[in-house]
Amino acid sequence: MSDHATTRDALVERLFGATIAALDLLHVQLGDELGLYAALAEGGPLTAAGLAEACSVDARYAQEWLDHQAVAGTLTVETDPGGERAFGLPDGHAEVLLDVDSLSYFAPAAAGVAGIAQALPQVVAAFRTGAGVPYEEYGVGFRGFISRINRPMFLNLLAKEWFPAVPGLVERLEADPPARVADVGCGTGWSSIAIAQGFARASVVGLDLDEGSIDDARGNAEASGVADRVIFEVRHAADPGLKGRFDLVCAFETIHDMTDPVGALAAMRALRADGGTVLVADERVADEFTTDVEDGERFQWGWSALHCLPTALTDEPKAGTGTIMRAPTLRRYAQEAGFADVEVLPIDNDFWRFYLLVG
Ligand SMILES: C[S@@+](CC[C@H](N)C(=O)[O-])C[C@H]1O[C@@H](n2cnc3c(N)ncnc32)[C@H](O)[C@@H]1O
Repeated sequence: MSDHATTRDALVERLFGATIAALDLLHVQLGDELGLYAALAEGGPLTAAGLAEACSVDARYAQEWLDHQAVAGTLTVETDPGGERAFGLPDGHAEVLLDVDSLSYFAPAAAGVAGIAQALPQVVAAFRTGAGVPYEEYGVGFRGFISRINRPMFLNLLAKEWFPAVPGLVERLEADPPARVADVGCGTGWSSIAIAQGFARASVVGLDLDEGSIDDARGNAEASGVADRVIFEVRHAADPGLKGRFDLVCAFETIHDMTDPVGALAAMRALRADGGTVLVADERVADEFTTDVEDGERFQWGWSALHCLPTALTDEPKAGTGTIMRAPTLRRYAQEAGFADVEVLPIDNDFWRFYLLVG
């Protein structure tokens, strides 16, 4: 075969596989949003009629979804040949699709991709004009995606693995007088809640620009029993208007989304108490552009032009960082914000790199 035919056919094959995978993911979104997986976990194996009744959905649609899910390998077919097909959800799959506390919970990624699809017309228009696309255009489902996909990391790892790797931080959070924490770009509040749950004396102020996220965060803190020590405010990171100084000022997966990351980092520096800590966690990507990337970086590239770059172009000064915020970029932002240096912390995480901003 000619080189042309070989490369042509390889691309067709790759896009064919990607199309199957994209459609698989949208079926996961149906299962997640309609409660189909939950019903199968609780009452399975179920026939289409049984699933339809359990979830108040149409039986013909239920049959099509179940058959697809069995062909995709997500569900098993359990019944006797010749009888009506019943479908089961293997335990391992139930953890990935339903266990909101598990580090393997991945169903929310489907809502992320659906949210991108929802905002795609605005992204197409933005490519033409250079304008940004506001965070809220990606919908409640996208906000829920970030909230649900990050929550298990915060609740399982923040207090037990991440903070003990930051010099002096645990000691300060457990000491007197009670430590004050500012959690910048806190989204729906799970990092703030994890800090309050892990450190019983600390109080936390979470701030975020997005009103919907802050509403959710307040509800989450209330439901988690920490609302007496965790408050949330709608505020701009570069102009936080908070009173006093904070022993820890942190920002999780948010600096790259900001229109003014340097302004935000300068404000974080100004909020830091004497001897306090400024901690940033953001995407784990290579230090410079390369096409030879691992899947983690490929995953991050997937969101960049479609979501993170457009949200970082919604306002002046339009940093337009994109998801791929490399360590040298953060170091430059930090230095422009007045920090002397940035240290990479020895925290092992597939998705994020942790930075200590000093000086
Ligand atoms: C990817 S989400 C991460 C949310 C949360 N930190 C987490 O890890 O789940 C990025 C968040 O940054 C917020 N954000 C973006 N620009 C901001 C700004 N200038 N000030 C405050 N929050 C901002 C968004 O509203 C969004 O909630």
